[in-house]
Amino acid sequence: MEKINIAIAGYGNVSRGVEAALKLNADTELVAVFTRRPDQVRKRVKDVAVLHIEEPVPEELHLDVVILCGGSKEDIPVQGPQFAARFNTVDSFDTHASIPSYFQTMDSIAKEHGQVTIISAGWDPGIFSLMRVLGDAFLPHGKQYTFWGRGVSQGHSDAARKVTGVSDARAYTLPIEAALQRVRRGEAPDFSKRAMHKRLVYVVAENGADHERIRKGIVTMPHYYDEYDTEVVFISKEEMAEHHSKLPHGGFVLASGETGTGNKHMLEYRCQLESNPEFTATVLVACARAAYRLHKEGRTGAFTLLDIPPGYLSPHSAETLRKDFM
Ligand SMILES: NC(=O)c1ccc[n+]([C@@H]2O[C@H](COP(=O)([O-])OP(=O)(O)OC[C@H]3O[C@@H](n4cnc5c(N)ncnc54)[C@H](OP(=O)(O)O)[C@@H]3O)[C@@H](O)[C@H]2O)c1
Repeated sequence: MEKINIAIAGYGNVSRGVEAALKLNADTELVAVFTRRPDQVRKRVKDVAVLHIEEPVPEELHLDVVILCGGSKEDIPVQGPQFAARFNTVDSFDTHASIPSYFQTMDSIAKEHGQVTIISAGWDPGIFSLMRVLGDAFLPHGKQYTFWGRGVSQGHSDAARKVTGVSDARAYTLPIEAALQRVRRGEAPDFSKRAMHKRLVYVVAENGADHERIRKGIVTMPHYYDEYDTEVVFISKEEMAEHHSKLPHGGFVLASGETGTGNKHMLEYRCQLESNPEFTATVLVACARAAYRLHKEGRTGAFTLLDIPPGYLSPHSAETLRKDFM
């Protein structure tokens, strides 16, 4: 079988998921890892080249696609353009408001250098974006809703950890069940942020820290918590390690609307992910296959999941898809 040679750039949670996902896809193979910490990463990654991210790639190393696994805030805006000038790339850039400008940057670089780059893949943005577009296309004049959770929000966890007296924190986003049920009943309500989601934060406090002051510092934090009802629960370091070490996430995309003669419709797509990074990684690997195929066709430039024919993501032939999946 023809193998697609894949490299990973940046070695964190999503990268470890990519490493595992590549083993489940018979047509893909990991051939290199780029990182800023090659000595550290070599202790864990055996059998493939581990290169410093700025090191030139040895000539004998043939790479079809590089999966960029750096953080969206600081890594991807820098690493994306650098890698797209040399390789086909896939990333999971998830700063929603900056996707249009990041797309433009990546599109012009990839076109200039004859590469394909698939940006903002994963589940949200990614699959959920696709579901929102389908809901909107199939139910014109309908309403779209996205509920997230129950899941760990890494950004909100990091923010809670910055409060004085907090030794560790894990923040969960929870959908409000009553709101979800109203949408499912076809009521098409308008919601505030507070009406759709709440937050639950588990905190390990430093010895002697004032719990009430920590609680207030979290629940009143602008942008992160003040627009939601937030519960803060104090736990021990051991409870944190035992019950909150995983990164689950997920959510629901719903579209409700009426068709011509007033018949009501409800579309719902749900993801329930025991590991957000591992699932994100498995989507990135499918996108690497699509990037490889698009490049082979002579296509160049930036794409999102909205631009990719679903069959290009699949390991199966178009004939098999028509026969077994239609
Ligand atoms: N679209 C979606 O649905 C979706 C879902 C989930 C996540 N994401 C995106 O995926 C991005 C990556 O998430 P992640 O959880 O993999 O982030 P992460 O674990 O923090 O890794 C990000 C980068 O930090 C560096 N790093 C990792 N562990 C380190 C350590 N112990 N010490 C020093 N540096 C370390 C790595 O770069 P080096 O190896 O070069 O040091 C890595 O590439 C997120 O920013 C998010 O935007 C998207």
